[in-house]
Amino acid sequence: MSVLVTGGAGYIGSHTVAELVAHGEEVVVVDNLSTGHSGAIYALGVPFYHMDIRETERLREIFSRHAVDTVVHFAANSLVGESVQDPLKYYENNVAATGRLLEAMVESGVQNIVFSSTAAVYGEPARVPIAETDATSPTNPYGDTKLTIERMLDWSYQAYGLKSIRLRYFNAAGAHPTLPIGEDHRPETHLIPVVLQVALGQREHVAIFGDDYDTEDGTCVRDYIHVMDLASAHRLAIERMRSGEGTAESFNLGNGTGFSVRQVVEVSRKVTGHSIQAVNAARRAGDPARLVASSSLARSTLGWTPQFADLETIVASAWNWHQAHPQGFGE
Ligand code: UFG
Repeated sequence: MSVLVTGGAGYIGSHTVAELVAHGEEVVVVDNLSTGHSGAIYALGVPFYHMDIRETERLREIFSRHAVDTVVHFAANSLVGESVQDPLKYYENNVAATGRLLEAMVESGVQNIVFSSTAAVYGEPARVPIAETDATSPTNPYGDTKLTIERMLDWSYQAYGLKSIRLRYFNAAGAHPTLPIGEDHRPETHLIPVVLQVALGQREHVAIFGDDYDTEDGTCVRDYIHVMDLASAHRLAIERMRSGEGTAESFNLGNGTGFSVRQVVEVSRKVTGHSIQAVNAARRAGDPARLVASSSLARSTLGWTPQFADLETIVASAWNWHQAHPQGFGE
C-alpha cells in the first residue's frame, strides 16, 4: 500500500513526506511545481510525477501502479492576501481541482484522504482557543475554499464512503532538523521567514500589518506550530483511517498559545542576535485579529503530541534552515 501526496514538493507537503518515509511508508508525490520545489523532491528521493491533479486519467494510472490506498492532499494556493485580490484563482485551483482529484479517487476505489485545511475556516472567532465545533465563517476566499472542500468531503463520505480527516493548520513554521528542506515561498509573505530575511540582510525591515487590532499590543495574534508536528499529525491520521476508524472528521492543529506579530519579532531578535527593524504599516485585508487553537481533540483522538511547542525552538529551527540555505532551494 502506498500513500500519494499531492503538493509533496511544497513546504508542509515535503516535511510530511519526510516523516512518512522515516516511518516506513511507501510514498509517491504528485506536484505541478507551481509553488513547490524540485530540490525538495530531490532531497526526499521518492517517486515523483510532475503533473496537475486535474489530470484524472494519469492519476488513476498512478493509483493503480503504486497500489495507493490513501491520498494526502496539500496541493493548493494558500495565501490569505492573494485570495482576497484574486478569489477566482482560489476557487479554480483549490475547489475545482480537488473535485477532479476526488472523482479519480472514487473511480479508482481509493477510500482515504487526509486534507490540508486551515484555521482560516473560522474567520474572526467568537472565542479563543477555538474548538472544532465553533462556528465557521471565513473572512477571506482562501478560508472559504478550504471550508467548501471540507463540505465536499462530508457529502462524499455519505455518498461514496470516502473517508476524510481534515487537519486545520494554524501557523506553520520551522524546518526539518536534518534533511535540507525548509520554507521557501516566492515571493515570501509569511511572518517568520520574512523576519528572518531581515536578520539575513535580505530585506531592510519587516512591515507590521496593523497595530490597532483589539489585542494586547494591537498586532495580530497567531498560534505557531512546528512543521514537523504538523507532519506527525498526518501520519497519525493515516494510521487512524487504516485501522478502520474515522469517518469525515476535522481537527485543529496548533499549540494553544497565541503570539502577537511584535512578540514574534522580539523572539526572532533574541534567537538571531540581530536587531530586526520593524515598521508599522496598514492592515492586510482578510486578517482576523486572533487565531489560537484548542487541539485537545487531535491529542485525544489521534494521540498527537507536539514535540517542538515552544516559539523560540520553532524560530530557531527556521533560522537554522535560513542560515544554511540563504537562497532557499536556489534557482
Ligand atoms: N504579518 C506582518 N508582516 C508580514 C507578514 C505577516 O505583519 O510581513 C502578519 C500578518 O498580518 C498576520 C501574521 O503576521 O497577522 C501572520 O501572517 P502570515 O502571513 O505568516 O500567516 P497568516 O496568519 O496570514 O496565514 C497562515 C497561512 C494560512 C493559514 C493561516 C492560519 O498562510 O494558510 O496561517 O492562521 F490559513
